[in-house]
Amino acid sequence: MDSVRIFDTTLRDGEQSPGFSMNTEEKIRMARQLAALGVDVIEAGFPISSRGDLEAVQQVAREVRTVPIAALARAKKQDVNAAIEALEPAAAPRLHIFLATSDLHLRVKLNMTREQALEAISSMIRLGRNHVGEVEFSAEDAGRTDIGFLCQVCQVAVDAGATVLNLPDTVGYAVPDEYGAMFEQVRAHLDDPQGITLSAHCHDDLGLAVANSLAAVRAGVRQIECTVNGIGERAGNAALEEIAVALAVRKESFGVTTNIKLDELFHSSRMLSEITGAAVAPNKAVVGANAFAHEAGIHQDGIIKNPLTYEIISPETVGVPSRSFVLGKHSGRNALKVALRNLGYEPSEEELAECYRRVTTLADEAKQVRPRDLVAIAHEVMRRRPTTVAAEASSAA
Ligand code: KIV
Ligand code: ZN
Repeated sequence: MDSVRIFDTTLRDGEQSPGFSMNTEEKIRMARQLAALGVDVIEAGFPISSRGDLEAVQQVAREVRTVPIAALARAKKQDVNAAIEALEPAAAPRLHIFLATSDLHLRVKLNMTREQALEAISSMIRLGRNHVGEVEFSAEDAGRTDIGFLCQVCQVAVDAGATVLNLPDTVGYAVPDEYGAMFEQVRAHLDDPQGITLSAHCHDDLGLAVANSLAAVRAGVRQIECTVNGIGERAGNAALEEIAVALAVRKESFGVTTNIKLDELFHSSRMLSEITGAAVAPNKAVVGANAFAHEAGIHQDGIIKNPLTYEIISPETVGVPSRSFVLGKHSGRNALKVALRNLGYEPSEEELAECYRRVTTLADEAKQVRPRDLVAIAHEVMRRRPTTVAAEASSAA
């Protein structure tokens, strides 16, 4: 089966967004975890942006030897030289050069003609290739670039020595079929070149970053750029954990594998939250607190009978310690029975009915029933102690 490389940009695109900046020590800690997670490339920073960022990339490159390290540079001499300096200690360096190619960016932001853009792309990739074995080129705002010009850009980049062509949806404007079609046209134009990897890089302004990345895979893309917890500019980048799990759960459909160790996903997510102080939303796919929590009685009953009824991934698969049944007003008797059993109680049918009545009454007032509320109810209704010592300990906690 073909494999898709995961290019992680948590430490660059993720880090450059508000509230997510990391110091060198934090970048190294996160980079080690990304290596344990099995990403194929770690983009460690944008060295021209500050001396601190340049040194952080160097430090990451010194500390993490098993994964290629990338550094970003605009198609400008001083950027490329800074990135080359930052990558100097890397075991497997990748220089990542970008230039915006949409007419809007060329005219308004860069004040450049298309010809000047082609010249800058070619000369900066050639400069990079003189120092670094692997050069990736990104056509910033590719999603809004005239397709004919984009094909020309890609040809120039390949001719200059780039071996990875990244076509970002920089502003999160694309929709899946359009984004996939763009890659198909570029691939056809380049005549399906051997040795060139096409790469997707999507932002989530319309909530489509993951869907667009997956559409790109269907169109032959074999590198996806993404971030842990989907952090990144504005609405964020495509979420690494969602892409890795989607490709694994729907492997038959996509026909590709990744090197991601799925059971490291939850730990990676929590580590990033701890470092940045930004918690993930409870309903976030794969790593959110509710991703494996069940409150509705019908769902709880189904899960007790067979988890496949309401879970397409098991919590253990992605490193979540366990699923949880939340006792609330939507909960059912079966889940209550399991919760009581976990606390060491074996209620009779009447006792269960009375506990259920009290739990739902309390849930109506308090929204959720905490473990200690349940213990209190069980004590009152059953007027006896739990049957196991372990249960007593957990109820005391
Ligand atoms: O979104 C984008 O276009 C980027 C490039 C610099 C790769 O982050
Ligand atoms: Zn980006």
